Amino acid sequence: MAEFIDPQKVPKRTLPGGEKIPCIGMGTFGSDRYTAKEVSDAVYGAVKCGYRLFDCASVYQNEELIGRVFSQALENGFAKRGDLFIISKVWNDRHAKGDVILSCAQSLRDLQLDYLDAYFVHWPFPNYHAPGCSGDSRNPDSRPFSAEEFMGAWRQMERLHDMGLVRYLGMSNMTVPKLKAVLPLCRIRPAMVEMELHPAFQQPELFNYVSENGIQPVGFCPIGSPKRPDRDKTAEDTADIEMLEVAEAAKAHNVHPAVICLKWAVQNGQIPIPFSVHESKYLSNLRCVTEDPLTKEEMAKIKAADKNCRLIKGQVFLWPGASSWHDLWDEDGTITK
Ligand SMILES: NC(=O)c1ccc[n+]([C@@H]2O[C@H](COP(=O)([O-])OP(=O)(O)OC[C@H]3O[C@@H](n4cnc5c(N)ncnc54)[C@H](OP(=O)(O)O)[C@@H]3O)[C@@H](O)[C@H]2O)c1
Repeated sequence: MAEFIDPQKVPKRTLPGGEKIPCIGMGTFGSDRYTAKEVSDAVYGAVKCGYRLFDCASVYQNEELIGRVFSQALENGFAKRGDLFIISKVWNDRHAKGDVILSCAQSLRDLQLDYLDAYFVHWPFPNYHAPGCSGDSRNPDSRPFSAEEFMGAWRQMERLHDMGLVRYLGMSNMTVPKLKAVLPLCRIRPAMVEMELHPAFQQPELFNYVSENGIQPVGFCPIGSPKRPDRDKTAEDTADIEMLEVAEAAKAHNVHPAVICLKWAVQNGQIPIPFSVHESKYLSNLRCVTEDPLTKEEMAKIKAADKNCRLIKGQVFLWPGASSWHDLWDEDGTITK
């Protein structure tokens, strides 16, 4: 029988309002490489071995099977609903009036839940690309970020919260300029912001801005997503698990470099959401946050090794007239139009 890691021993993060949630969760994006069944089997195994936080999304096309395993895991007494923290996200093609609410209803139905613990706007614009499309594909209807358009979606998010269908709201793939534009307009502010975070891409400015605003950062691709879809790979990308500072710490702690990325993430303050369908890996990912932390020196070395290497560049969301994926990320401190 698989090892059980006592969820009480997993350190906690505090959300605005004081609720404590696990400092690590499990991602559920199969990267176009793993089937929905493989991912949902892993989610079942993960609940059984002590994971309590799960990062889902409608665009991952596996919520229906994940819903079945949540239901089975609850029936089998592996966890109580109140102990799970389940995130889902609205996809870019469902931002229009009424659509966010319908999309949330579909996720609730698929996940077999009465409420979501958190619901995120997956990307801050309605630019759609079909799941699994190539990196060169563009949608001629894509357009740059508009705070007004974003707030149209956010008002629906707030209504979902009012209706008790969603406990916390979240944003994802934001930048500091976009947050500055929308946070003052929110009646209900996000409790969490999901962003790409790994040793080679630490986003200190965004991380600090989010934290200083009392919002909990959630880190995606925490291991540098070695199996990400090919459309998200370029020759210049750094492989986190091959970074000298990460490899050295792995040797010192006698663990896989992936585990060092996760220890770093948790000690840095974000909630990493690593993905694997392999039991030995998802177990070691959870176990590693309960034991043998990195030293101050190791943390400092990894901090200094940041390569500003964004992996999920988002080029498929570019609008006609945009020059490159850099336009999505407001790198000069203003919102690119
Ligand atoms: N909000 C967003 O826009 C967004 C974007 C991207 C991702 N996400 C979320 O973030 C989650 C994580 O990102 P990700 O899946 O792209 O990347 P990741 O977690 O950084 O990397 C996942 C890969 O790392 C390998 N791995 C995991 N644990 C390991 C271990 N202990 N030892 C060795 N290798 C290990 C796995 O390989 P094997 O497959 O061989 O096990 C897996 O394919 C996603 O599943 C999704 O929920 C959100």
